[in-house]
Amino acid sequence: SIGRKKYVIANWKMNQNLQETLSFFQKIQDEDGVEVVICPPAPLLLPAHTQIMQEGKKLSLGAQNVHQEEKGAYTGEIAANLVKEFGCQYTLIGHSERRQYFQEDDQTISLKVKRALQEGLTPVVCIGETLEQKHQAQTEKVLTSQILLALEGVNPADVIFAYEPVWAIGTGESASPEEAQKMHHYIRAVLSHIDKKSAEQIAILYGGSVNETNAKEYALMPDIDGVLVGGASLKVDAFQKIITVF
Ligand code: G3P
Repeated sequence: SIGRKKYVIANWKMNQNLQETLSFFQKIQDEDGVEVVICPPAPLLLPAHTQIMQEGKKLSLGAQNVHQEEKGAYTGEIAANLVKEFGCQYTLIGHSERRQYFQEDDQTISLKVKRALQEGLTPVVCIGETLEQKHQAQTEKVLTSQILLALEGVNPADVIFAYEPVWAIGTGESASPEEAQKMHHYIRAVLSHIDKKSAEQIAILYGGSVNETNAKEYALMPDIDGVLVGGASLKVDAFQKIITVF
């Protein structure tokens, strides 16, 4: 990861209330040399943004999802330009929970990536194989097609990737650092077919049961440029320890 920017991103999913959010942002400390991004539930973005400004901390915000259309009759959905206005610089796109529970396919994800870029948000595109795909030795094929479809018509250098093997999410069964490094290396090789120079610059983060104990092993791997953290990002002490190792 020499020369590339490092990221530690928190995905709170559908957790945390207003009080927990305010106290999290009071306690958390920023660090030099690592971009820390918190992705809270959408209604917490504005209070989080206000709190960050008050505290004067170098922390960034991300949305967990945005809609692909600019605006319109999409009841219950959230526009990318709105989360931008509420202080986001990033948005997750295509998290496996979105793919699994909300039927997001690669085509929708590709539209969302374009929308995010149009609104000035950096997309953090989540890719990864399911356990079944892993057992059928389809991991490389799945990752390749997820990458190519997500990047259709966009400059790869504008995107961040998060490799989250579905079997490692919330299971406590993380990919070993060596296993993750191997897949990150593969992802970078796929990217380098599209654009060799961008491939060297693109941040590829690992996600899936990262915690304060195993984080430093990922940090040592040459193609792992940071982590996307679910469960362990909810407790400020654990998350702070993860930030420190990057
Ligand atoms: O987006 C992060 C995530 O899916 C990983 O969740 O709880 O395994 O860290 P967790």
